[in-house]
Amino acid sequence: MKISVVGTGYVGLVSGTCFAELNHEVTCIDIDEKKIQTLKEGGCPIFEPGLTDLMKRNIQAERLQFSTNYDSVKDSQVVFLAVGTPSSDDGQANLKYLYAAAESAINEINDEAIICY
Ligand SMILES: NC(=O)c1ccc[n+]([C@@H]2O[C@H](COP(=O)([O-])OP(=O)(O)OC[C@H]3O[C@@H](n4cnc5c(N)ncnc54)[C@H](O)[C@@H]3O)[C@@H](O)[C@H]2O)c1
Repeated sequence: MKISVVGTGYVGLVSGTCFAELNHEVTCIDIDEKKIQTLKEGGCPIFEPGLTDLMKRNIQAERLQFSTNYDSVKDSQVVFLAVGTPSSDDGQANLKYLYAAAESAINEINDEAIICY
């Protein structure tokens, strides 16, 4: 299955890598160019024991890719939105990153795809 994961933080990067390990074809998307460059070079921006090895194995097998654009969403059967939802001053989740990611994904997504957040 082709999967796009939007947001390569703690949730998105670990989920995307594990989906690739399960033999899915995964593209992890982030607007942070520096982070995507690090990931493309095989670096892991978060501390998660075992993740770097898992990433390297799946990058090598061409099941795991990283991108700053949403092109992969066009062919994806499932799109996961895993961007941050930090607490606002009043304690509510700030959903502005989620809305922005959803808008970018909706511009590319095909009619059959499932979007999860
Ligand atoms: N970290 C946890 O332990 C944890 C646990 C349970 C639930 N969650 C929830 O999961 C979600 C993700 O959390 P996280 O900790 O992985 O966040 P994070 O802050 O570590 O990562 C979010 C990533 O999304 C990227 N991003 C922001 N806007 C974007 C956009 N428009 N397009 C593409 N990428 C974009 C950021 O650059 C960042 O790399 C949040 O809703 C959080 O509340 C997190």
